[in-house]
Amino acid sequence: MLGLSALLVALLISLFIVQFLKLQWACRRLPPGPTPLPIIGNMWVMDFKRQHETLIKLAQIYGNIFTLWMGPIPIIILNGFQTVKDGLTVHAEDVSGRPSTPFWQRVASGKGIIFTSGHTWKQQRRFGLMTLRNLGLGKKGLEHRVQEEACHLVEFFMQERGQPLDPSFPIVHSVSNVIAAVVFGHRFTIENKNFHQVIESYDYMVKFGSSVSEMLYDIFPWLMNHLPGPHQKVFYCHEFLRSFARNEIRNHRENGPPDEPQDFIDFYLAQIDKSKDDPTSTFDEDNMVQAIFDLFLAGTETTTTTLRWTVLDMVAHPDVQEKVQKELDAVLGPSQLICYEDRKKLPYTNAVIHEIQRYNSVVAVGVPRECIRGTVLQGFPIEKGTIIIPNLTSALLDPEQWETPRQFNPNHFLDKDGNFVNKDAFLAFSAGHRVCLGELLARTELFLFFSNLMRAFTFKLPEGVKEINTEAITWITLQPHPYKICAVPR
Ligand code: HEM
Ligand SMILES: *[C@@H]1O[C@H](CO)[C@@H](O)[C@H](O)[C@H]1NC(C)=O
Repeated sequence: MLGLSALLVALLISLFIVQFLKLQWACRRLPPGPTPLPIIGNMWVMDFKRQHETLIKLAQIYGNIFTLWMGPIPIIILNGFQTVKDGLTVHAEDVSGRPSTPFWQRVASGKGIIFTSGHTWKQQRRFGLMTLRNLGLGKKGLEHRVQEEACHLVEFFMQERGQPLDPSFPIVHSVSNVIAAVVFGHRFTIENKNFHQVIESYDYMVKFGSSVSEMLYDIFPWLMNHLPGPHQKVFYCHEFLRSFARNEIRNHRENGPPDEPQDFIDFYLAQIDKSKDDPTSTFDEDNMVQAIFDLFLAGTETTTTTLRWTVLDMVAHPDVQEKVQKELDAVLGPSQLICYEDRKKLPYTNAVIHEIQRYNSVVAVGVPRECIRGTVLQGFPIEKGTIIIPNLTSALLDPEQWETPRQFNPNHFLDKDGNFVNKDAFLAFSAGHRVCLGELLARTELFLFFSNLMRAFTFKLPEGVKEINTEAITWITLQPHPYKICAVPR
């Protein structure tokens, strides 16, 4: 008996050693990093309570490019503006893939824009970009939709008459309505319960997307598929969102094609028709439904979170708030419709918006990429299929690029004469072939929402409240803790 267990133990130990040696062999050409162990990889170096400090320490030891093993998978992490920028743009095509985890594989099934690579991604992305551009043109263009939502938001705050309120829901409602206008061609009232469920479902999916439950699902997908838990609710949410989109598509079909396409679905239906004889076409209803999902997913959480930080930053920096209001009052009439073009006359306001995005770095470490072929990063040969994380925060806080990286300081985007200056290190929307597809729409939203709110209100702490927690919660985005403020009409 003893002989047998000794044999087993010996076998396990030798297996472990063989695996260990294999891993060290795999490491020899990868960027440096802590020694990986079989099965757990580098989990042993991670102090999960102090993840940030561990990672900063690793960057200090190993430099701006290092390898971290998440279990059996090596992940290359890029830190610092120059390394991140070069990593995303020098061999832009090589690093244009998106890794898929079992969770997102089950949800997106290789369709749409965010979670695809190669041919499907190229077609869907190009079409998405073109459609956003087409929708921006003309009088009923996108900008007009954003202006309309900004007015609704101002009205909503007005009704509260300066009483303490949590601005999260009105903000996410307005931002989601912008995407609804783009995709469906119409908005939803604040009473519409179905649209509430849409908003809550996306929120639930984003939160799940960075939870322990998701990690479990990605490690044991076959097992988890048969177990109850939050992942089952996520699949339910996803199904609800898909049928919501399908319903809108059906309405569009029933109404027939308009003279001029008015929204994403109109354009997509026309495209399906146009390419029905092309065997390489990926334009079909499944891709359309997933692309709609992607626009909502990518377009609401990020913009909403940035606006929630905006309100907090103004409360924390009343001097900045006052200066923005002075500039707006000097340049704009009290009821003049504000246009995106007006930012050129409002350099300080524009600088403040950029600083809010830089300082709060909402997308955190950015969205992972995958090499679609072998490539070279900072001199290291990288194999096809390797996952890369370009740490966008590290560019936005790079001490070599910013005067006071960890302080809120709108002067980062102003020259000595008060003119607005763009900064290369402003990578909030990433860079390269997968740079944020909605960048222009997002910039328009941030500018129009912010300037309309600042013209109408002063944000203040509720009476008796001394300070607000400004630490971030890490979901997929870096979010503020829930808070209440007063929007005092000016
Ligand atoms: C403040 C607001 C926003 C920020 C900070 C932001 C940032 C980003 C970032 C960092 C990425 C990842 C790029 C990469 O892979 O390197 C991304 C991708 C994307 N964003 Fe945005 N985004 C914002 C708003 C929007 C909006 C409003 C839309 C909707 C029209 C949108 C649509 C997308 C899409 C579809 C992708 C995936 C692109 C692809 O995989 O090719 N984003 N965004
Ligand atoms: C990304 O950069 C930020 C700022 O330098 C740092 O705090 C964080 O730990 C970095 N994350 C990773 C994964 O390297």
